[in-house]
Amino acid sequence: MTLESIIGTQRILVVMGPGGVGKTTLAATLGLEAAVQGRRALVLTIDPAMRLADALGLDTLTAGDRHGLSKDTLNRSGVPAKTPLFIAMLDTGRSLTDLIAREVSDPRRRQRILENPFFDRLCQDLVGSREYAAMEEIYHLHVHGDYDLLIVDTPPTTHGLDFLEAPDRVLDVLEHDSYRWLMRPALLTGKLGLKVLNFSGGYVVRTLSKFTGIQFLKDLAAFIDLFSGLIEGFRQRAVALRSILTTDASAFLLVTTPDPSRSEECRYLNRRLSRRHLAPGAVVANRVMPKPAALPQEPTWREELTGALAAEMDDHEVEKTVAAMQKAHQMLSDLAGRDQRRLAELKESLPNHSHVVEVPLLDEDIHDIEGLEKLRRAVFTQGRL
Ligand SMILES: Nc1ncnc2c1ncn2[C@@H]1O[C@H](COP(=O)(O)OP(=O)(O)OP(=O)(O)O)[C@@H](O)[C@H]1O
Ligand SMILES: [Mg+2]
Repeated sequence: MTLESIIGTQRILVVMGPGGVGKTTLAATLGLEAAVQGRRALVLTIDPAMRLADALGLDTLTAGDRHGLSKDTLNRSGVPAKTPLFIAMLDTGRSLTDLIAREVSDPRRRQRILENPFFDRLCQDLVGSREYAAMEEIYHLHVHGDYDLLIVDTPPTTHGLDFLEAPDRVLDVLEHDSYRWLMRPALLTGKLGLKVLNFSGGYVVRTLSKFTGIQFLKDLAAFIDLFSGLIEGFRQRAVALRSILTTDASAFLLVTTPDPSRSEECRYLNRRLSRRHLAPGAVVANRVMPKPAALPQEPTWREELTGALAAEMDDHEVEKTVAAMQKAHQMLSDLAGRDQRRLAELKESLPNHSHVVEVPLLDEDIHDIEGLEKLRRAVFTQGRL
């Protein structure tokens, strides 16, 4: 599938890859392409770093808020957009609070959940809670949001996988025997909190409370009790999101660079994806050294350059400068050749010799819409203009 058609047809696009390869930059660039194609897109970053705002040249981006880049703003920066582009950064606490607001209709019960200290811990990015919140947010935006395309920018590889595995993990936990054994009587009676506390003289609780304090156990018990009615909803949404992610409406974009260690991580990620029956829609090799333009035939360029430099320096210096430039040109050609060989190896090693989209290394870092537009044109307009 070409990147252009991925942007033109998909509903969810998850951008994944090793650290620092350009995931966030590309997610923003793909957002611009969606706006150019006239598709209403939201780029949602689940990485707590401010890189998405930085790539777009925004001073701030408050986590949890949606920021709109109007069609005019994009046009003024040289992007031939037909629609606005929206961006947002996940706020774990806000997502989980919104989730409770949606799921719990009884205001008193809702209040008790939100005020429970254990809920507070969940919102403080307890291990896995960010990935879980991301999963819920994506599901909610996909089903209820008014976007044609949701582009998800993930944190580096392993955390990216955490996010992908969040639905499965929820299902594992909910379907796990010991969990059922522990929870079912409580779920049936709705009295887990009471039961745990009734055991408070027991060995397990006595031992646990030494470490955590009895108040923590009380909070946890009350929390599980309050949460028990929500578990079926978690299960259903986890199943639903897992199937949405495996349909044709969703694609994964594996980003890498020609660097062999990055390619290795990319292959690893690819294997993990296929184990979950999630094939990447495309593999993108970013920051590929472009082949320098060929020098005109000698002696023309040498004569022209010598002529241009002669006014500034003596013959010896001219000779040295011309030689240095020739060497620099040769080095750039060698680096470009090396990247091409590395890319060929990457293609060979991917299953079915997957298509690898090349994105050139620009000569400067990307910190505004103009820079992103340069990258977009380099990726998308080649066959189009
Ligand atoms: N094609 C490119 N040409 C030039 N610079 C690029 C290109 N792509 C990305 N960069 C630069 O590389 C740096 C890293 O990019 P980015 O933050 O998008 O990577 P990332 O994969 O999201 O990183 P992390 O894993 O930390 O989230 C940035 O400074 C960005 O400007
Ligand atoms: Mg990033």
